[in-house]
Amino acid sequence: HADVAGDIASILLTEEQIGAKLDEIAAQIDKDYAGKDLLLVGVLKGAVMVMADLSRRLHTKAEMDWMAVSSYGSGTKSSGVVRILKDLDTDLTGRNVLIVEDIIDSGLTLSWLVANLRSRGPESVEIAAALRKPDAAKVQVDVKYVGFDIPTEFVVGYGLDYAEKYRNLPFVATLAPHVYS
Ligand code: PRP
Ligand code: MN
Ligand code: MG
Repeated sequence: HADVAGDIASILLTEEQIGAKLDEIAAQIDKDYAGKDLLLVGVLKGAVMVMADLSRRLHTKAEMDWMAVSSYGSGTKSSGVVRILKDLDTDLTGRNVLIVEDIIDSGLTLSWLVANLRSRGPESVEIAAALRKPDAAKVQVDVKYVGFDIPTEFVVGYGLDYAEKYRNLPFVATLAPHVYS
């Protein structure tokens, strides 16, 4: 069935809540980066929604670039060993980089990515994440801008997928049990 409504158990964050939070974060970024160059780096694929919505709210002149990374190792979740599937097109020397992510779960992806980007000679590397699961953290990641701290449960929507589906939902939600069976 093509309609996803029947697959949603409950909505955790509405489109309006997310939008209001991004208004605040964008205003803060405008303050913090006033007079500086800014390079937004989106992490494919999850960050597509927050990148689009956050960047549109900025008054700061910003460039946008993208990376695709993949964690591999034992299970299905981040191992902390990350492979670059698509690298940036941009030279980071002297740049102010703001990584834009949909969610920080274990923190392994971002801690690797921050170290990787810092090694390329940027002026600064910071993180903006729409969501964070504080209780799921395996490594400490220093996040400058965070939208919402959420419980450690599986959520989809607003860029987050389950088996590549549900990314296109405009809200963040939990899935009904039948989806998993
Ligand atoms: C998800 C999510 C973050 C990462 C967070 O991406 O979009 O990038 O996992 O997990 P972590 O904090 O435990 O490392 P995923 O690897 O599923 O790729 P996707 O963005 O293409 O869905
Ligand atoms: Mn991702
Ligand atoms: Mg995913």
